[in-house]
Amino acid sequence: MQEIPNKALTGSVAWTCPSNIALIKYWGKREVQIPKNPSLSMTLREARTSTGIRFSYDPASDAPKLRFRFEGRESPVFEKRIKTYIKGMESLVPVLKFCSLEIDSENTFPHSAGIASSASALGALALCLVQLEAHILGQPDPERFWQKASCMARLGSGSASRSIFPGFSLWGRSDSWEGSSDEFAIPVQNYHDTFKNLRDYILIVESGEKPVSSSAGHKLMDSNRFAGPRFDQAHSNLILLLSALKEGDWESFISIVEEEALSLHAMMMTSQPGYILMQPGTLSILHKIRSFRKETNHRLCFTLDAGANVHLLCADADAEVVEAFIRSDILRYCENGRVIVDRMGQGPYKPGGQ
Ligand code: DP6
Repeated sequence: MQEIPNKALTGSVAWTCPSNIALIKYWGKREVQIPKNPSLSMTLREARTSTGIRFSYDPASDAPKLRFRFEGRESPVFEKRIKTYIKGMESLVPVLKFCSLEIDSENTFPHSAGIASSASALGALALCLVQLEAHILGQPDPERFWQKASCMARLGSGSASRSIFPGFSLWGRSDSWEGSSDEFAIPVQNYHDTFKNLRDYILIVESGEKPVSSSAGHKLMDSNRFAGPRFDQAHSNLILLLSALKEGDWESFISIVEEEALSLHAMMMTSQPGYILMQPGTLSILHKIRSFRKETNHRLCFTLDAGANVHLLCADADAEVVEAFIRSDILRYCENGRVIVDRMGQGPYKPGGQ
């Protein structure tokens, strides 16, 4: 183990990390944050969290302090969660035991939009903590840096592990993909140009809090009678999707991505107790997307998160016509006509290029 330096030191670190949308869904886990099946996601560009930490490292101090502010305001609820998370990270980043931290965080997307912020928030926080360690102990090699950030993000929220990489990311062990791991995500670089810059229109059907949290949903998979076949399905869909991405095969891409979305919700409905997160507007949008695709042959499809909102994915080249379709046929199902326009992104970065 690396030696802890005995000289006090202050400094600051900052990272901006995007959110991601899963195409192959992670749903079901075991201790500690190990997924029951591999998942694959697209990292977004516009939905991001920026986090900055001012730290003061003092190996003589035995009572480091932590202060957290979200969007400029004290936030006791978040602060408590972050304290617990950082305490849990001390075994991986031992210098944290001697660091007082002032953390400031903000999102580019409205907190109340009903889109999950845990992936970008935990991604940004984990990157800051690994950077802070590098500041004190010296920079690890780049591969180690990203792997550790992804691993620590995963321990905060499983899907956050994937936000650390640009384009497409894969998290979870699959025999079909060398280097894949349950501990951290890896980037998937081998994909066709047709999927570059994929668009994601996040159609906000409902922005309120979900009646069943993702954590509770994962837990219910422990007793879901369809869990075994579902995990097998995710494994085989991953292989099919990786091949579709490589070959530029839109037809397979669409059928796998929509099947994954519907299977995720089927798992919720068949849990004990079962629950439904889709709303009437969600279903109307799914039907509209399928009819429009059938009529026009444009390359678009839907996916769903653990909620009522719909992610409409489409090829970069089809964006203009899809936007016109959203305006004419979809906006009426969105809460206050709300849509978040996003697309594939290039991964986390240091704000201001520091
Ligand atoms: C449906 O990553 O939010 O979005 O690990 O408990 O934080 P925790 O769960 P979380 O679950 C995400 C579930 C999902 C699918 C996915 O992103 O793969």
